[in-house]
Amino acid sequence: MNYQKIIEEVFEEAKSFPQIGYVPDTIPELAKIDPNKFGIHLTTIKGQDYGIGDSNEKFSIQSVSKALTVALAFSFLGEETWKRVGVEPSGTAFNSLVQLEFEKGIPRNPFINAGALVIADMLVTHLENPKEDLLAFIRTISGTQSIDFNLKVAQSEKDTGFRNAALANFLKSFGNIENDVETVLDFYFHQCAIEMTCKELAHSFYFFANEGKTIDGKQVLSKSHVKRLNALMQTCGFYDESGEFTYKVGLPGKSGVGGGIAALFPKHFTIVTWSPRLNEKGNSELGMNALELFTTKTGMSIF
Ligand code: DON
Repeated sequence: MNYQKIIEEVFEEAKSFPQIGYVPDTIPELAKIDPNKFGIHLTTIKGQDYGIGDSNEKFSIQSVSKALTVALAFSFLGEETWKRVGVEPSGTAFNSLVQLEFEKGIPRNPFINAGALVIADMLVTHLENPKEDLLAFIRTISGTQSIDFNLKVAQSEKDTGFRNAALANFLKSFGNIENDVETVLDFYFHQCAIEMTCKELAHSFYFFANEGKTIDGKQVLSKSHVKRLNALMQTCGFYDESGEFTYKVGLPGKSGVGGGIAALFPKHFTIVTWSPRLNEKGNSELGMNALELFTTKTGMSIF
């Protein structure tokens, strides 16, 4: 398959669609990003790289980080993880509070903000130097040392993160946050403020496509752990649009409000798109369109 030609075709065709969607203003620092940025990067299981557009420009990975933090927590806690966070789609928005009260402080899954905050709490408990150790893990899986937090984005989210603060305090009231709420929020805002290029993110997600082994050949998770996390991304990775993403694209993946989407086809490839305009569910409009075109043209979907 000529992947370079296909992603070029997808890139051109997707750009010709009406450019709808909005750049969110909930994190003021992110509202400054040029909405017309657009990049795609594909990494095959053999390690070949194909990129186009702004695929080598760093962007804020935001909730895409939740796939990486749950992978790290699951790697050392195993099935224990699911005592404090579920594995079911929520059917609610990523930052919703309503379900938590009915369900007694156990978030439906690790990708909605409530679930990601519980995972952040697990990492704060288990890691010696939580923020540094998270960066070390991401540098290992991406095979790149130049990955860091954007401290302005982390601060900007802290300044405006009232809803996440409400969620963390609510979780604490149910006894599902062990550490100090401020510490957990600080860790969470930093994980969301990690910056990567499409290529770096495609390399970071490689182990999900390669039975737990990174692009440099390090076994970071077991094959069965990766199977479970891919299933979770498939069913919950796009919040209340997970069904739609599965229907249109047919790959497990994870989105972020920075406009990134990382998706993968086990044993074949990882693919990352970046376009900052979001739809009303908080997922990248152009990114979803591009991935739909890609799997429709190539037939490379798990279904
Ligand atoms: O916590 C938040 O609301 C943001 N830092 C991340 C949300 C996000 O990326 C949702 N994804 N599409």
